[in-house]
Amino acid sequence: MAEVTNVSEYEAIGREKLPKMVYDYFASGAEDQWTLAENRHAFSRILFRPRILIDVSKIDMTTNVLGFKISMPIMIAPTAMQKLAHRDGEYATARAASAAGTIMTLSSMSTSSVEEIASTGPGIRFFQLSVYKDRHVIERLVRRVERAGFKAIALTVDVQRLGRREADIKNRFTLPPHLKLKNFEGLDLGKMDKVDGSGLASYVGGQSDRTLSWKDLKWLQSITSLPILLKGVLTAEDTRIAIQNGANGIIVSNHGARQLDYVPATIMVLEEVVKAAQGRVPVFLDGGVRHGTDVFKALALGASGIFIGRPVVFSLAAEGEAGVKKVLQMLRDEFELTMALNGCRSLSEITRNHVIAMWDASR
Ligand code: FNR
Repeated sequence: MAEVTNVSEYEAIGREKLPKMVYDYFASGAEDQWTLAENRHAFSRILFRPRILIDVSKIDMTTNVLGFKISMPIMIAPTAMQKLAHRDGEYATARAASAAGTIMTLSSMSTSSVEEIASTGPGIRFFQLSVYKDRHVIERLVRRVERAGFKAIALTVDVQRLGRREADIKNRFTLPPHLKLKNFEGLDLGKMDKVDGSGLASYVGGQSDRTLSWKDLKWLQSITSLPILLKGVLTAEDTRIAIQNGANGIIVSNHGARQLDYVPATIMVLEEVVKAAQGRVPVFLDGGVRHGTDVFKALALGASGIFIGRPVVFSLAAEGEAGVKKVLQMLRDEFELTMALNGCRSLSEITRNHVIAMWDASR
C-alpha cells in the first residue's frame, strides 16, 4: 500500500476493504448530501492571515477540556458500531486515543460496552448518550458510565428521528447478528432487526424518545453529576437556552450531515454560537475536519477543540488501531505545522485575526 499522507485517503481504502453496506453507512449523509459536501467546502472559504518573524521553534498544542489536560485540541467523536469497520472496533479507537493523549467519545450504540472500553486501561473518555423512551434503561446506563470512569456525557440532541440516508434504505442496512449493541446487551435493545428499508432507522424510530425536550436536560442533571455537553447545536438561540439550563459545553455539530440536509456547514455557524456563549462554556465543533488547517480555522473562529468522526472509522477499517493512531498523528503534525506557519506558539495565540472568512465581506 502506498504511504497514506492525509486522513482523507483512508476513505478510499475503506471503500475497497469494506462490504458496500458498511462503507455506505459510514460515508453517507442525508438525502441530497448537500450538507455533507458543504461541511468540507466551507473550510475552503476560510483563508489565513499568517504572521511572520515569530520564533516558532517550540509549539505547545496542549489544552484543557472540562478540566482535563490533553495533548492537542483534536478529539474523537462518537461513531456507532465500530466493529463493522474492524474486529477490534471501539477497543482499537480507545487505545489509539489514549496513546495520543486525547479524548475518545464512546457512542451509546457501540459494539463494545462501557465496561469493556474502561478495561483497555487509563484514558480520558466521554460517553455519547442517546435518550431512549425507557428512562430506567438510560438511568442504569448512566450509572454504568459513571462507574466505568467516563468523564462527561455528550447528549445528542439532533436525533429525534433518524435522517433519511438513502443508501442505508437501499442496502437494507442492519447490524449483522454476530455483533451486538453491547451497552444494551441482555435487554431487547441489543440487536437490530432486518427490515424493509434501513434497520437503523427502524431501531432508532422504535427506541429514541421523540418527546425529548429542555426539561430532560434537567432530568439528566438530576441523575448524574457528570458534566453534560449538548451535541448538535447550530444556533445562537439554542446556545443561550442551553447555557440557561446549565449545559457545561456545546458541540456545534450537524451529525456529520446525516440528519437534516441543508443545514449549514458547522464551521459556518461556529462563530454565531461562540458569540452567544460569551465565554461561559466551551464550544467545540465536529463535521468535515480532515486537515490540521481545519483545526486551526475552527480554533481561530473560537472553538476550544474539534472532534473527528469518519476518519476514525475509515482508518480503523484500513489498519485497525494503527490506522486510528496514524490519523491522530497526521492531524497533529499538520496542525503543528499550521500553527508554526501562522506564527502561533500556543493555542492562546490563535486569534480571529489569523483568518479571513470569505463570508465576512458580505456582512
Ligand atoms: C456518527 N455520528 C454519531 N453521533 C452520535 O451522537 N452518536 C452516534 O452513535 C453516531 N454515530 C455515527 C456513525 C457514523 C458512521 C458517523 C459517520 C457519524 C456523528 C458523529 O459523532 C459526528 O458528529 C460526525 O461524524 C462528525 O463529522 P465527520 O468528522 O464524520 O465529518
